[in-house]
Amino acid sequence: MSSHQKRELIRALVIDDNVDLAENIREILEELGVEALLAHDAASALEIAARVVGAIDLAFVDLKLPGGGSGVELLPRLRALSAEIEVIIVTGNATLDSAVQAVRHGIFAYVQKPFDARDFIAIAERVVAQIRLRKERERLARELERSEELHRSLVEMVDAAILLIDREGTILFANPFAEERSPHPHGLIGESFIETFIEECLRTRVRRALSELRPYERSEGVESHARVGDQLRTLRWSVSRGGSGSDERYLAVGIDLTEMRALQMRALEAEALAAIGTLTSGLAHEIRNPLNAAALQLELIVRSARRVEEGSLRDRIEERVEIVRTELARLSSMLNDFLSLSRPAALSLEEKDLRDIIESVEALQRPLLEAEGIELRVDLPETPVRARIDETKIKQALINLVQNALEAIRAKGGGVIEIRAKARSDGAVELAVADDGPGFGAASGDLLRPFMTTKEGGTGLGLAIVRTIVERHGGELRLFANSPRGAVAQFTIDRRA
Ligand SMILES: Nc1ncnc2c1ncn2[C@@H]1O[C@H](COP(=O)(O)OP(=O)(O)O)[C@@H](O)[C@H]1O
Ligand SMILES: [Mg+2]
Repeated sequence: MSSHQKRELIRALVIDDNVDLAENIREILEELGVEALLAHDAASALEIAARVVGAIDLAFVDLKLPGGGSGVELLPRLRALSAEIEVIIVTGNATLDSAVQAVRHGIFAYVQKPFDARDFIAIAERVVAQIRLRKERERLARELERSEELHRSLVEMVDAAILLIDREGTILFANPFAEERSPHPHGLIGESFIETFIEECLRTRVRRALSELRPYERSEGVESHARVGDQLRTLRWSVSRGGSGSDERYLAVGIDLTEMRALQMRALEAEALAAIGTLTSGLAHEIRNPLNAAALQLELIVRSARRVEEGSLRDRIEERVEIVRTELARLSSMLNDFLSLSRPAALSLEEKDLRDIIESVEALQRPLLEAEGIELRVDLPETPVRARIDETKIKQALINLVQNALEAIRAKGGGVIEIRAKARSDGAVELAVADDGPGFGAASGDLLRPFMTTKEGGTGLGLAIVRTIVERHGGELRLFANSPRGAVAQFTIDRRA
């Protein structure tokens, strides 16, 4: 027994009008480590029992009490106060009838006066041992319940997925954290751990690792993605095996790394951008000068070409010049993109009506789009959509999004682009550019990262720039599918930003 499992106090009530006898019994009980309270009639017995409610473990009851009451009548009332009470009837004139009655009341023993002290001690020892056993059992049950409670709350509250699986990988138990990351709407019990949480390309490896686990061994961690709703979550699983035989159970513990990995990714991007920043600012000057010189030379070539007599030769020269001009413009805008991502200038915020901003973007883009057979729609509310913004930056963001929409639609030779704005009730402003092109496809989260492009000749900086601009305005950029087809790039701006 450890120190805190100290013996609990046993308390006895001795009810007898024979004061000497009661005192004798008390002495015997105290020898056995039992505290004894004395009562000389039924009324005071009940009074004591009521005072120490629930705490009388043992009663010695004289069958014939003063005032004509029978000890047996006292029993139900004592039990009502102390449910677990053990009773020993002590009597001078036993009748068969009273003995039968007493036994019916479930008493522990029946002692006849005058009794032999050794017999009495033996009975007392037996009853005390029995009470000690019951108390120990109750204590253990309480402790078990407490430790189960503790484990249950641990399993429920811990920030990890905890699964109990059998040797086939069928889930027998899942904690709430695991259920929250489950694609099964009706719960995880009975589902396959591997098919639910492990990516296809890792399944064979994980299956083999599980089958090779020896009793009480833990597997190496494996990191796997699982789709939960429209989210991809990254969990790192490790599996421990229990015993063998009927005890063969496996405990799978999954730590959710999604947020951490996303943070790591952002940190890496920031680092890459910082490196590019240093490089670009150094090179920008070196590149811009020859670019300008090349553009100038090109204009001179155009002028000279005008003097060429032969029409077809002149046309050919002009055609090529146009190609070079476009390429130079592309280089120059790429340079600007790099610069604005890596060395973002301070925002110059002013309160504006975003409807004006959108209208000026519209005026700029409409001719370009119409030339490609694309319809531009603008959906603006009647009332001003005010926010503190950097006008140039927000225009750039919108133009980048319109440019992407145009490039997405271009292949199918026509379509619709819509720019929308509205003021939300939570104090944010919401802007969106929607198109009816092919849409973003599956990995839309990745498209926001710099250098992520699916276009030949794309830089993959457009959306990264939009995101940076939006986030610096205290907003968020989200990409989702348009219905029935196409893409929506939507961003918010905190009006107070
Ligand atoms: N409106 C859109 N519809 C479909 N895909 C898009 C759209 N806008 C962006 N994308 C995808 O996102 C990628 C990244 O865009 P962006 O960062 O602007 O770089 P880039 O335009 O240079 O490729 C594009 O290559 C394209 O695959
Ligand atoms: Mg782009």
